[in-house]
Amino acid sequence: MITIIVATDRNNGIGYNNNLLAHLPGDLKRFREITMGHCLIMGKKTWESLPNKPLPGRQNIVLTDNELDCFECAETARSMDQALSLCKPGREVFIIGGGSVYRQFLPLADRLMVTHIHAEFTADTFFPEIRPVEWYVAEQEDYLSDEPEVLSFSYTTYLRRM
Ligand SMILES: NC(=O)c1ccc[n+]([C@@H]2O[C@H](COP(=O)([O-])OP(=O)(O)OC[C@H]3O[C@@H](n4cnc5c(N)ncnc54)[C@H](OP(=O)(O)O)[C@@H]3O)[C@@H](O)[C@H]2O)c1
Repeated sequence: MITIIVATDRNNGIGYNNNLLAHLPGDLKRFREITMGHCLIMGKKTWESLPNKPLPGRQNIVLTDNELDCFECAETARSMDQALSLCKPGREVFIIGGGSVYRQFLPLADRLMVTHIHAEFTADTFFPEIRPVEWYVAEQEDYLSDEPEVLSFSYTTYLRRM
């Protein structure tokens, strides 16, 4: 099972200036709970954007072509296959970004866990289109707010159509 986990805005934006678009504390807590004990695959820019490295209690695998890069407390991989082969047996695989890594792994993914933020932000990095011919909504939880300063969002789990 390969799961992509991501937060997107209404335009599929996911990041700007190597940062997330919005701070949703509940979403970060949920991310931690869902991924705890498992294997995380990420691109180098996402790794660099993490305020605290590595993400504790999980296997951190960073994709990079740069042989000189050395990451304390994380494993490095130079290809998608190598990243997958590094994942320890019995652990689930979570693809945690960023844009380039989501694009590459989307064709391999079995499940998408998307936090759809019901707002628009300035973005320079985007998630690919989730095509209804390929994916169906298996679960959705909506958290809607009437207050303009509180973001509304939905946790949506998509599974690949057979
Ligand atoms: N909203 C969300 O849920 C979410 C989650 C994560 C990240 N983000 C955002 O996404 C943005 C970063 O995304 P990004 O697309 O710019 O960068 P990225 O995907 O995080 O990292 C790109 C880098 O990863 C390496 N890489 C990617 N694929 C590789 C492969 N197949 N083999 C070897 N190396 C590979 C390359 O590093 P080298 O150049 O070293 O070779 C590449 O330059 C940030 O704004 C971040 O905040 C958002």
